Amino acid sequence: GVNKKALHLEIYKKAARFYYYSLQLKENEQALEYFHKRGITSDVIKHFGLGYAPAKYNILYQNMKREGYEDEDLLETGLFLKSKKNGMLFDRFSDRVMFPIFNLNKKVIAFGGRILGEGQPKYLNSPESLLFDKSRTLYGLHIARNEKHPYYILVEGYMDVIAMHVAGFTQTVASLGTAFTDGHAKLLKRYTQQVVILYDNDGAGKKAALRAIPILRSNGINVKVLQLTDAKDPDEFLKKHGADEMKKLLDEAESHIWFRIKEIESTYHLELPDEKVKFLQEVAKLIGSLESSIEQSIYSEEISQKYQINQDALQAEVKKYYQSEA
Ligand code: CTP
Ligand code: MN
Ligand code: MN
Ligand code: MN
Ligand code: MN
Repeated sequence: GVNKKALHLEIYKKAARFYYYSLQLKENEQALEYFHKRGITSDVIKHFGLGYAPAKYNILYQNMKREGYEDEDLLETGLFLKSKKNGMLFDRFSDRVMFPIFNLNKKVIAFGGRILGEGQPKYLNSPESLLFDKSRTLYGLHIARNEKHPYYILVEGYMDVIAMHVAGFTQTVASLGTAFTDGHAKLLKRYTQQVVILYDNDGAGKKAALRAIPILRSNGINVKVLQLTDAKDPDEFLKKHGADEMKKLLDEAESHIWFRIKEIESTYHLELPDEKVKFLQEVAKLIGSLESSIEQSIYSEEISQKYQINQDALQAEVKKYYQSEA
């Protein structure tokens, strides 16, 4: 109910404060050092409310008990786990740098916690709860939505959002991991008509982009894709090349259609006539799935030029698939 939500919000707020102040303590300087090494300054720490969960078994729990909260409520927040040995609660997050996740009202509803250095799991996230619905939460949206933007940028991770915002791309949000849902798309549609997908430069990132495209498209959002080449993700790219280079690439981001055509192309040997036919049939199917016949005609022309195929023949094939789903 409403009261329980308010109670959980209060507990999350206190937890966020606790983590934030723990990061400032001399005894936890290795955590601050970790952020500094990654280029995260004290201003950025403040802006995103970053923190540190100390390497102590139940220090947050003890704090919450001193404040008078009941075990049952604390457990429900997802911030604590129950020991199988003695039934006592202990902190879910320990010895991790902490990224609070905010709702649209700028209230903390969850955390992501990163290990300092190597180790598994690299990130640990709050479980879903009364407050936290993963498929309706986008990291960074509480800031992005403060201003109007001609397009939004979708990245994978916490550090990518932070680095992009610091570089001036405050319209960047993350679906946290790779699962982009219809709920995320509906949320974005409230703020923008166009999204540039900027996922990691690896197989998982590519796959995730291919999955996100139809979800965004079916919600009426225009989609472009920017694939990085000599950096594994936006955070690393910005460190290497800076904001101006990023801006250039964003301006040149390709339409989702060309991204998908290149993906299809990579599965065929176009120098073999049989394979070229199959490839073009698959491309025709993709073009046929576009709602606008103007778009269809534009892409058909580009494709017929690029792959040296008669445009009428291609159009005839496209018609077969028109208004089928792809
Ligand atoms: N993620 C997660 N749990 C993991 C690994 C990843 O929830 N065990 C999510 C996090 O939101 C993470 C995002 O997926 O930010 C992207 O993962 P990855 O590319 O592996 O991490 P980075 O964000 O690049 O993290 P870093 O730069 O800190 O290594
Ligand atoms: Mn990745
Ligand atoms: Mn990274
Ligand atoms: Mn990454
Ligand atoms: Mn070949």
